[in-house]
Amino acid sequence: MAENKAIVSNKDLIGAAAAARMSAYAPYSKFTVGAAVLTSSGKIFTGCNVENISLGLTICAERSAIAAAVTARAKDLITIAVVTESQKPAVPCGSCRQVMAEFNPAMKIVAATTNGESQEFELSELLPRPKQGILESDRNV
Ligand code: THU
Repeated sequence: MAENKAIVSNKDLIGAAAAARMSAYAPYSKFTVGAAVLTSSGKIFTGCNVENISLGLTICAERSAIAAAVTARAKDLITIAVVTESQKPAVPCGSCRQVMAEFNPAMKIVAATTNGESQEFELSELLPRPKQGILESDRNV
């Protein structure tokens, strides 16, 4: 996976995620989330959570940002920032981790709050062995 040679700091990426949070549609939980994903060529794609009355069909901000990147044919995803209005930074849910791993199992994750706290992770520590077993090519189908 290519290194981030572009001049996009984590601070800039957090800023983009914070702006995307303003678009969140979260009438049920009232928990608004923004995400911004950075590509190896320095492009940023953003997303927000989009809730649904069924609750289960809710899409998280992270997956929304990744869908925006892929729609623009950008799949070399290096870092994703997530911004929440919470005491502590929120780490991505299991579903989002699996979707991130599809594009980069070593993606960097920057979880930040609106009051300026932040924490950094690598996806491989939050989701080790993302494709082992049924998800890997040893399937006989
Ligand atoms: N949510 C995200 O968008 N990303 C996260 O990392 C945590 C959870 C959303 C889903 C739902 O709309 C709301 O936050 C409450 O879980």
